[in-house]
Amino acid sequence: MISYNEETKIFKLDTQTTSYLMGIADGKYLGHIYYGRKLTAQDLSYLLRTQEKPFVPSKLLREKLSFLDSFPMEFPFGGTGDFRESCIEIRDSNGQSGMELLYAGHRIYEGKEKLRGLPGVWGEGCQTLEIRLEDACAGVRVLLSYSVFADSDAVIRSVKAENIGTHTIYLERILSACLEMDDEDFEMLSLSGAWARERHIQRQPLLTGSFVTESVRGESSHQDHPFLAALSKGCTQTCGEVYAMHFVYSGNFLAKAQRTQFDTLRMVLGIHPERFCWKLEAGAVFQAPEAVLVYSDAGLGKMSRSLHSLYRNHLIRGNEKEKVPPVLINNWEATYFDFHTEKLIAIAKESAALGIEMLVLDDGWFGHRENDDSSLGDWTVNEQKLPGGLKYLADEVNKLGMKFGIWLEPEMVSPDSKLYEKHPDWAFHLKGRTPSRARDQLVLDLSRQEVVDYLYDSISKVLHSANIEYVKWDMNRALSDIGSTAFPPDQQGELSHRYMLAVYEMQERLITEFPDLLLENCSSGGGRFDPGMLYYSPQIWCSDDTDAIERLSIQEGTQLLYPMSTIGAHVSDCPNHAVGRNTPFQTRGITALSGTFGYELDITKISEENGSYNLSKSKA
Ligand code: GLA
Repeated sequence: MISYNEETKIFKLDTQTTSYLMGIADGKYLGHIYYGRKLTAQDLSYLLRTQEKPFVPSKLLREKLSFLDSFPMEFPFGGTGDFRESCIEIRDSNGQSGMELLYAGHRIYEGKEKLRGLPGVWGEGCQTLEIRLEDACAGVRVLLSYSVFADSDAVIRSVKAENIGTHTIYLERILSACLEMDDEDFEMLSLSGAWARERHIQRQPLLTGSFVTESVRGESSHQDHPFLAALSKGCTQTCGEVYAMHFVYSGNFLAKAQRTQFDTLRMVLGIHPERFCWKLEAGAVFQAPEAVLVYSDAGLGKMSRSLHSLYRNHLIRGNEKEKVPPVLINNWEATYFDFHTEKLIAIAKESAALGIEMLVLDDGWFGHRENDDSSLGDWTVNEQKLPGGLKYLADEVNKLGMKFGIWLEPEMVSPDSKLYEKHPDWAFHLKGRTPSRARDQLVLDLSRQEVVDYLYDSISKVLHSANIEYVKWDMNRALSDIGSTAFPPDQQGELSHRYMLAVYEMQERLITEFPDLLLENCSSGGGRFDPGMLYYSPQIWCSDDTDAIERLSIQEGTQLLYPMSTIGAHVSDCPNHAVGRNTPFQTRGITALSGTFGYELDITKISEENGSYNLSKSKA
């Protein structure tokens, strides 16, 4: 699947139907040669253009800058002559930031190493190429990793940067992937939206200049998606070419396409450099997240199938993966905060009679939370609403033959909570400023291990207290005021990424301690629906907009990249709570059936006519 030709100095990665070629030019520059339909032996090194005057690097020192500014660099660096988007930028001990990364070696091995602390594609039948680039002057080594699986059409990339010098340096940018192409006239496809309008498909021509889709919200976001594709003009579901990049990460990202002065295309994807700065002491290593690349010569449909099968077979984990998820009923749109044990049991009884398999108790079961302005952080049961606690309720629900699950929002704290009273410094805040609230809540400083441990212990205690078989892990605001008292000034730029690492750590601990738990991620609906989250939870709540018609575009955009089994979708009430639209019960059912399928309405109030349409059966 992966080969290296000593003579031509060309690396070739083959997937089921594609080839990806890189070459070493002038013995030192790693260039991108080709990505597209599978090739047999063919020397395409001319695509590096190193033989074309006047851009011959070694012979024409006087034109090195022009060379660097046009060479299709596999992992571009800036400051020495390439003025296009770069993938790496460091500030060295002299305060300088220019770089020149040169080929220093490679290895090809069976399998794929796990990325420390990060989600990643896994599994058997895989080969990896690791290319070593070095900048002796800056004291930096970069390891580019490319994996291909026998049963997949994707190329999986990641990057590690290591300080091989003797001084501390600062990593100010490290993107995970770059694609260089010769062709012009691409259309860019991105997914964009807003709260309750996530992942709408957007296409536009790329003229000379740049197209950017990005998030600096501390989550992959409702607004943009960590994905970018270049499409040949007029590309459809079944024909045309697609070059897609998808980021296995849930925090800030930058995806950018540049059409250059020479009508070439450079596409990059990685952690957003804005407010990012990672201190690398001598010998330290930074691991950047993974990017998935997919090429299709048969339109968007083939791209979707390649991503779906990769995610189904090599990203999603856990015991629930192969099972049809239980048809659930969630009490959020049925009761909001206004519930008590008897009401929930009434919903469960009606649901059990209709063949629904699990009751999910949403927000409001803890602290003194009667609305959304208190108690986040105090993960103890409100016994006034739920006498006997979660245990009594779960047991009653279980007696009806149903499973039981709960909602949690571990990453947040309400200023009106015992936790905040005790540890106000546990919330992110900038020195001397009052942090901005959203939904009356603040974000916990998860860069502090004691906060992570406190949260994890509270959650674990709750889950041990009753037979809880499902958790909806919510996150209801973007990150702002990101400052921590636990880190020195020169490490404040690490916090957003450290936050993500902590979320991943907590979810990893959770699914390890509770291997049979069904975890569903959520972020005010679909604000953190990304491949990173899929590594921890096989399904993600798709949107707070449960209107069947609005959901068509939201789910169409989501299904472009994700298998249907991952898309949280429920039948809800009419008029719809988000948009006020009335739709037939059957329309709502059919839309929800193209996702995980469940209900989110007061089933005790459903009319005879609607109730007789038994959707739990039609699913089976
Ligand atoms: C978010 C979720 C909803 C619900 C509420 C509870 O908005 O997306 O489904 O859980 O929080 O507060």
